[in-house]
Amino acid sequence: MLRANIAVLVSGSGTNLQAIIDACRSGVIKSGEIKTVISSKEGVYSLERAKQNGIKSFCIPKKECASQKDFEHRLLEILKTQETDVIVLAGFMSILSADFVNQYKDRIINVHPSLIPAFCGDGFYGLRVHKAALDYGVRISGATVHYVNEITDGGQIILQKAVNIKKNDTPESLQKRIMERAEWVILPRATEMVCKKVLKEKSNG
Ligand code: GAR
Repeated sequence: MLRANIAVLVSGSGTNLQAIIDACRSGVIKSGEIKTVISSKEGVYSLERAKQNGIKSFCIPKKECASQKDFEHRLLEILKTQETDVIVLAGFMSILSADFVNQYKDRIINVHPSLIPAFCGDGFYGLRVHKAALDYGVRISGATVHYVNEITDGGQIILQKAVNIKKNDTPESLQKRIMERAEWVILPRATEMVCKKVLKEKSNG
């Protein structure tokens, strides 16, 4: 196998998905390719990005699923048929169960918009993270890419990048700067690191 099959899981606009697509093109990611994009929400721009880039996409509307188990069952079915090696959570707003993550141990990574262990865990997602950082008054925030385990934002850290907070920052301005300077940089790099590792493990049998 030359490249690991990547599944990118999304729930929103997908700027991080775009960063991975661009990195596959530029060669920052060379050990993996995006085989599929799976969204937990209908009508999100991530699905449009997949389409525009000729990537097979699926939508499993979480709100239409009978239970978390039902949602994860559908997800697993797609991941298996797509022969997924590495799962990248890129703005995926759903917590995965221990049962699920154990099936892809050290194969699932997530990008979180703060320097973990600050402003992370249950309830910290999207703009809420940046609001919490500004309310606390920290001078530095940033982004973290980490392995996903059964603890929300609790898996081993792969990469982090710090971003300075400016005097007049709003949650929106901080979110934008952290995305541009940190998330879109470290998520592709970490994706390459994990794909490379997975390929090596596979070739060693
Ligand atoms: C990103 O800032 C990502 O770090 C965050 O949601 C945004 C998604 O944007 N994720 C979390 O908060 C997860 N806890 P995108 O859809 O444009 O990539």
